[in-house]
Amino acid sequence: MKGIILAGGSGTRLYPLTQCVSKQLLAVYDKPMIYYPLSTLMLFGITEILIISTPQDTPNIKKLFSNGEHLGLNITYKVQSHPNGIAEAFILGKDFIKDSPVCLILGDNIFYMQSQIQEYRAKIKEKTDFATVFGYHVSDPQRFGVIEFDKSNHVISIEEKPKHPKSNYAVTGLYFYPSDVCTKAATLLPSARGELEITDLNKMYLAANKLNVIPLKRGTAWLDAGTPDSLMESSQFVQIIEQRQGLKLACIEEIAYRQGFINEKQMKTLIKNLKDGSAYKKYLQKVYEEKHDLY
Ligand code: G1P
Repeated sequence: MKGIILAGGSGTRLYPLTQCVSKQLLAVYDKPMIYYPLSTLMLFGITEILIISTPQDTPNIKKLFSNGEHLGLNITYKVQSHPNGIAEAFILGKDFIKDSPVCLILGDNIFYMQSQIQEYRAKIKEKTDFATVFGYHVSDPQRFGVIEFDKSNHVISIEEKPKHPKSNYAVTGLYFYPSDVCTKAATLLPSARGELEITDLNKMYLAANKLNVIPLKRGTAWLDAGTPDSLMESSQFVQIIEQRQGLKLACIEEIAYRQGFINEKQMKTLIKNLKDGSAYKKYLQKVYEEKHDLY
């Protein structure tokens, strides 16, 4: 399974925060926003990753992660020259995806669901020729793609940002597709807002009876940090959990170590190479010294 992070867009809803800095590089509490989607891919066991971003932002994201080798990852980059829509990821990413299944995550989506990941991975593996999306109960569905279910919980429709949502279930920004996704994406036409819509792609799988919708369980959290309020709420959420537990969310170095992407020696070098004086470095030293993972 390969992974794509789409970190494009103009961040219009966050202006003027995004006037000079890309949305995905803004802080969500103690780390850049893009650490969170990267950590989700890593927790799903994905190490081969393509990051798609704008011409201005790609060099800065490269500065953050380089080729990912220090994290046991293989990260490559692709520029999206215009915000032509989420589904364009599968046109730009065609050579990267080749004949592999692929996971796409949006650069402003934050998931807190580590305890469920093994279960979700198994469900995705069961249906390899299906697209899998996740549904999350929200109070403001009109901001998202919305899923309509019938009485037996089968999906009837998906609508993009409907004025009158047919349910409270939003489609999250985490999508799993079989390798035929590139062929399907190539047939998409731009929507009224001029974008290749991910919802139109999902509708193709739904029409072919190949769409698997997993409702994210209660006790999991999904936040999108695309507006000033949701950005603030995301920071507060991360701060509360981290301060209470003394454990970090989306600490990519810790995840690389605990997932076995890097060994003890590599972890030691990685920590040594971080600038002194941050709580982040101290935390990683503690992770390294204590080794055991009860959580
Ligand atoms: C996009 C998708 C939408 C999805 C959302 C998740 O919306 O178009 O279907 O529910 O991401 O974050 P955007 O917020 O990029 O307009």
